[in-house]
Amino acid sequence: MMTSRKSVINIGLLGLGTVGTGVMQILAKNRADIAAKTGSELKITKALVRDPSKTRPHLDPAVELTTDASSVLTDPAIDIIVEVMGGIEPARQYIATALEHGKHVVTANKDLMALCGYELFSAAQEHNKNIYYEASVGGGIPLIRPIKHCLAANRIRSIMGIINGTTNYILTQMTAAKKDFQDALAEAQAKGFAEADPKNDLEGRDAAYKLAILASLAFQSVVNVDDIATESIVEMSVRDIMYADELGFVIKLLAIGEETQEGLKLRVHPTLVPKDHPLASVHNEFNALFLVGDAVGELMFFGRGAGSLPTASAVVADVIEAVHNIHHGIENHAIEMTFAAKPVVPMSRSRSKFYVRLKAKDQPGVFGSVATVFGDAQVSLDMILQTRRDVNLAEIVLVTHEVVEHNFYQALERIKQLDSIRNISNVIRVLERG
Ligand SMILES: NC(=O)c1ccc[n+]([C@@H]2O[C@H](COP(=O)([O-])OP(=O)(O)OC[C@H]3O[C@@H](n4cnc5c(N)ncnc54)[C@H](OP(=O)(O)O)[C@@H]3O)[C@@H](O)[C@H]2O)c1
Repeated sequence: MMTSRKSVINIGLLGLGTVGTGVMQILAKNRADIAAKTGSELKITKALVRDPSKTRPHLDPAVELTTDASSVLTDPAIDIIVEVMGGIEPARQYIATALEHGKHVVTANKDLMALCGYELFSAAQEHNKNIYYEASVGGGIPLIRPIKHCLAANRIRSIMGIINGTTNYILTQMTAAKKDFQDALAEAQAKGFAEADPKNDLEGRDAAYKLAILASLAFQSVVNVDDIATESIVEMSVRDIMYADELGFVIKLLAIGEETQEGLKLRVHPTLVPKDHPLASVHNEFNALFLVGDAVGELMFFGRGAGSLPTASAVVADVIEAVHNIHHGIENHAIEMTFAAKPVVPMSRSRSKFYVRLKAKDQPGVFGSVATVFGDAQVSLDMILQTRRDVNLAEIVLVTHEVVEHNFYQALERIKQLDSIRNISNVIRVLERG
């Protein structure tokens, strides 16, 4: 169906903070280009905020600031609602209301899309409108659209990403400048790369939300965030980073999704990444996604995963797509509604390679007893480093071959009980060399 082209498309913003301001800036700066690309003038007419008296840089005086959500959501003149306020409620309710009132919706909200995506796609389908969410994962890096459209011909085997800038900044600083974890975190906060409460980032929860969205699209499944095993980076030490370096690895927080015959394997954890892997050279606040498709082979996306303008770049691209769809009368085409949940393999049944750092009495036979316990549990060893720390204690670092996680952790429990073992200082998964 071909509909008449609207010369003006009105946009209502929900939120005018970091991302909302970037959206306003891009629409002002690139107004003529965007009008040429879409055939319409794109105008923000209203913006919902908490505090209209706040000083706001780059504020377009033509935009009406309001604290009354329904005056934006039900305004018949508004065509597209851009939700950049964050959080679950009231954002979820506002998007539902916008759809009910015939608006297309663009959102940057990963938490909401990861937790309530299915519900919102259903509402969009019911009202024959679309939800666009490119900015919800990877900020300015195009990920959603490439997976959904450009790679649609492929069966995607795996996705593996550095999709949290805060943790990547911290781990990069610990590696490059040998800063300890607390100092690197304080620096990330001072530079605006970490929030005042960084818990969700450090514990891998933020990356798990993003992985849920990406894995859902890559494997055409409905992914529950709670099925994603997550591990924090707070136990990482410069000592581990230095041993990893000696063994030929760097430590990164990876979000990993694979589709296997047994089901989906989904996890977020600190990982020893071989130095020659493309993800090893993704530093500081940068993000990247490494993907393997059966036709395209290996592919990597790299760029700024957050920030006002990079994130707004993705939001405005979604707005432009929405405008094209409005012009061409394309209403709902949510392929996400065709997805059905696939089984997720529990971590205990997954196979991984492990780095283990432990302290033991510096006496003959210690290493032999550790190797025997691992051997009994069918855990074979790939690499070993042994360093003497003082007269009584030795530090042993070893890397296993790929093993069933359950067997590995059972052996580790037995090793902890050995008389000669003082403690297990850290255990980190290792990415197999390609
Ligand atoms: N920042 C990034 O780099 C980035 C990257 C990717 C995705 N995102 C996502 O983008 C979204 C927005 O992030 P942001 O960094 O722009 O957030 P932000 O700077 O905190 O801005 C939030 C905006 O929403 C308004 N707001 C929040 N709750 C409201 C409520 N209940 N009623 C009315 N207004 C409300 C705030 O109003 P006031 O201005 O009056 O306080 C503010 O303008 C989030 O979902 C985030 O996860 C952000």
